Amino acid sequence: MHQADWPTAATALFGTRLPIVAGGLMWLSNADYVAAAARAGMIGFITAASFPEPGALRAEIRRCRELCEGGPFGVNVSMLPKLVPGEKTREVFETIAEEGVRFVETSGRNPEAFLPPLKSAGIKVLHKVPAVRHAVKAASIGVDAVAIVGAECGGHPGLDMVGTIVNAAWAQSRLDIPYLIGGGIGHGSQIAAALAMGAAGVVVGTRFVVADEVWAHADYKRRLVEAQPTDTGLCMQSIGNTVRTLRNETTRAVQALEATQPGVTIQDLMPLVSGQIGRHAYVSGDWSKGLLSAGHALAFVDRLEPLAAIVARLEAQMREALRRLAPFSILHGAEARRS
Ligand SMILES: Cc1cc2nc3c(=O)[nH]c(=O)nc-3n(C[C@H](O)[C@H](O)[C@H](O)COP(=O)(O)O)c2cc1C
Repeated sequence: MHQADWPTAATALFGTRLPIVAGGLMWLSNADYVAAAARAGMIGFITAASFPEPGALRAEIRRCRELCEGGPFGVNVSMLPKLVPGEKTREVFETIAEEGVRFVETSGRNPEAFLPPLKSAGIKVLHKVPAVRHAVKAASIGVDAVAIVGAECGGHPGLDMVGTIVNAAWAQSRLDIPYLIGGGIGHGSQIAAALAMGAAGVVVGTRFVVADEVWAHADYKRRLVEAQPTDTGLCMQSIGNTVRTLRNETTRAVQALEATQPGVTIQDLMPLVSGQIGRHAYVSGDWSKGLLSAGHALAFVDRLEPLAAIVARLEAQMREALRRLAPFSILHGAEARRS
């Protein structure tokens, strides 16, 4: 357990120094990345789906525990409707419990059926959702905390497409459990603002993909540095599985199919969107093909550097934001004296 420098309900839940969560990154958030997150004062999540071979997830959890040297870490279990047959969610949770993992980040679907065994194993559940209404539902079934990602996020923004700054303030009056805000977060002033609006912290994906500890090819990371928020786009809305990714040949082809073939199915799209194509882009650095999740936080992605350096800059920006607000605390004092 670290001493929290920015104490919130989230730092208390995870035992972290900072109210920043490094969300699961398909193929990319392995033990090296998650341990770097722990060293930087955050909690990160290994993506279970990146380790489908029997025994591989277990081995990665053990490697992560060793690298984290007592720091907190968790496993992300993304439960989106499966693109390929075979439902392994229950086995994944069993492995997580057997390995004594303390935190999970769930996403993609209601985790209610899995909560009793997770709770009896003492595992804390952060459920990630793309809308305040889903967060209210998740709170009612007993998750420990929720993360609400807005329309700007890399990956799956859901169907409602409400923005992060609206979610941040809206959730405050609708939830009585700790909530994190995500989607487009890449500057410390946004984190300070989220805390001011009532969030217990933030969840970050896109901003961290260029970290040295992420194994993806440097050419891919350099593309993220060059790219602007407008170089991301949405596709797969027509099949109810909206995703925000870097624009490339694949997104153009998928959008064309969706526009010209009403009733197109995931099976029709599979040759274009299979996860293995995305993995190949990370290996080769050729970002022209594959659905490569990235969001509007590309605005803040400006260099390749260690995760700790990115986080140090976020923290400096959080402090700077508080300094900008300092004059208003004098106003507050005057008001307090008047009342
Ligand atoms: C490259 C990439 C891969 C992701 N993979 C997953 C995943 O496997 N499971 C999941 O729950 N979220 C995944 N996400 C979403 C992030 O965990 C996080 O919620 C999101 O990135 C926050 O929005 P931001 O990208 O604007 O920071 C991914 C995001 C990115 C950018």
